[in-house]
Amino acid sequence: MTQPTIESVLNENRTFAPPEAFASDATIGSMDKYQELYDRAAADPAKFWAELAESELHWFEKWHTVLDWQPPVAKWFDGGKINITYNCLDRHLTTARKNKAAIIWEGEPGDSRTYTYAQLHREVCKAANAIKAMGVKKGDRVGVYMPMVPEAAIAMLACARIGAVHSVVFGGFSAEALRDRLNDGEAKLVITADGGYRKDKTIPLKSAVDAALADNAAPSVTNVLVLKRTGQDINMAEGRDVWWHDLVDAASADCPPEPMDSEDMLFVLYTSGSTGKPKGVVHTTGGYNLYTHVTTKWTFDLKETDVYWCTADVGWITGHSYIVYGPLSNGATSLMYEGVPRPSNPGCFWDVVEKYGVTIFYTAPTAIRAFIKMGDDLPNARDLSSLRLLGTVGEPINPEAWMWYHTVIGKERCPIIDTWWQTETGGFMLTPLPGATPTKPGSATKPFPGILAEIVDLDGNPAAADEGGYLVVKYPWPSMMRTVYGNFDRFRRTYWEHIQPKDGNYMYFAGDGARKDKDGYFWVMGRVDDVINVSGHRLGTMEIESALVSHPAVAEAAVVGKPDDLKGEAVVAFVILDGGFEGGDDLAKELKGHVTKEIGAIARPDEFRFADDLPKTRSGKIMRRLLRNLASGQEIAGDTSTLQDRSVLDKLRGGA
Ligand code: WTA
Repeated sequence: MTQPTIESVLNENRTFAPPEAFASDATIGSMDKYQELYDRAAADPAKFWAELAESELHWFEKWHTVLDWQPPVAKWFDGGKINITYNCLDRHLTTARKNKAAIIWEGEPGDSRTYTYAQLHREVCKAANAIKAMGVKKGDRVGVYMPMVPEAAIAMLACARIGAVHSVVFGGFSAEALRDRLNDGEAKLVITADGGYRKDKTIPLKSAVDAALADNAAPSVTNVLVLKRTGQDINMAEGRDVWWHDLVDAASADCPPEPMDSEDMLFVLYTSGSTGKPKGVVHTTGGYNLYTHVTTKWTFDLKETDVYWCTADVGWITGHSYIVYGPLSNGATSLMYEGVPRPSNPGCFWDVVEKYGVTIFYTAPTAIRAFIKMGDDLPNARDLSSLRLLGTVGEPINPEAWMWYHTVIGKERCPIIDTWWQTETGGFMLTPLPGATPTKPGSATKPFPGILAEIVDLDGNPAAADEGGYLVVKYPWPSMMRTVYGNFDRFRRTYWEHIQPKDGNYMYFAGDGARKDKDGYFWVMGRVDDVINVSGHRLGTMEIESALVSHPAVAEAAVVGKPDDLKGEAVVAFVILDGGFEGGDDLAKELKGHVTKEIGAIARPDEFRFADDLPKTRSGKIMRRLLRNLASGQEIAGDTSTLQDRSVLDKLRGGA
């Protein structure tokens, strides 16, 4: 099995029409219907979104301007007043959904809980009152550092209820990474748990929070709200730390939703780029609510009876948009699972599908590849007949993995939606609509209605069919990021100035290369910047390099990705040591531990190459292209004439 390369996907010409039974019952059940929607949206995107904002969402007050576009600043539904938790909770309570399961949760040690919409509403209101009592006000930022428990979603919704801005930090990030994010957003409160369960171990979340806050290193944080999950021993700092069960359980369940301006900030979520520290991607309220609502409804072809399961963690954008906000805004049943497949329980995902009768299953290619390795017996031993739709996200899916998903899990009955999008886009950009779009294994197919996507060169000229180029979006959409938290200039430079059309137009570009085939299908090839994608997680090579050089043994480091059968990409670190240090297994192990401490285990290099020097241009720039060739054992491709010292290559080729 290999990662999709241009050659392998160019040869991919199988097409799968939506199964008849699925299409006949689908909201958007034909390509004609898709095309009609697409054309109508493209002709007047603002009108298209305004109609949906009117029909799909509840507004306390209507907007005066649908779209105010002063590139690269977009305002959607300006003047409108809205609260996303009203749309996710309150409005369902006057319907038959009141006692429908909103969240079904399966805990890792086998415990489980279900919240109906009425119960979830109650818990969110109580949590909202609790954080209000801790002094959190509209506009304040709140760090959420939680395991995959319902209280993670409740914490997010509680913030949104009162207009506080949540900043969720994935529980696998280290204390250092957490501290950076809390400081960048100047969070006032941190919501966490004593610990969480992960792969048969407990992870010490509260002690990581303690380490992040030690020595007043995150001075904006005044309180920590702590959920008891594992019962492990922790310290509670007097006057700062409060138990969830003391404060939330005693709080009133009456908390009216704060009427928010459509453009008020809803959340910040940090993601990696090719330069500098992770960026705080800012999303606002009205447009994000609308776009995640509509994409969830159409792309998952949601039915009232669906049991929908997205396997992501709420710490990532997929969890924000497609575990919490999109499904709940639609009144769907969203399943949350605390566990991950692991050697001690490789069939756990299929057990969950069988136990709850999951109908829509949304996961990542890296998980699918891991399942293939574990063998067909595991899924074949379970009843997966409830499934009707499968989805994938996070990285390009290789056609082999797609076909396995299609046959072994979907039994050729379930359409597959391959959804391309990003933290920055808020919601799906390229995706099949399952009752309409014929799919091709490895292609995210076509733009969602209202999204004007294109493949262009650096001047913004469209590429020819099957010619590679930069994947851009040419017109604003409601859930686009609004800025980098605290750094508008970085936002403009990173996303809007890379492609420079001659006519002065702005195009959004966030790092992926792609091509479009003669049928207008998009094939995303992966990042073209210094971001690597490990098991569907975005990592900036520069972040890992900064972590490495903060170790006393390391003088210089360069990190690149190399193709990996399971993870998509593996992290390879080229390291120049300071005098007196000896490269070898022991040091490699120590450096892995160091990166884990600085960022988290997801960023730990898989392989080290210790060297005396790195290939550089005469002006001193590291030639990453050559390092990528070396890491993957390929012949050195392309021009090396600017290389300062050619003997460096021969030394590095040997590896360690
Ligand atoms: C990659 C995750 C190919 C891409 C939602 C993008 C994909 C980055 C796909 C965003 C897909 C995501 N096919 N590549 N279906 N989905 N990507 O911000 O490189 O964590 O730029 O958002 O993941 O990662 P992020």
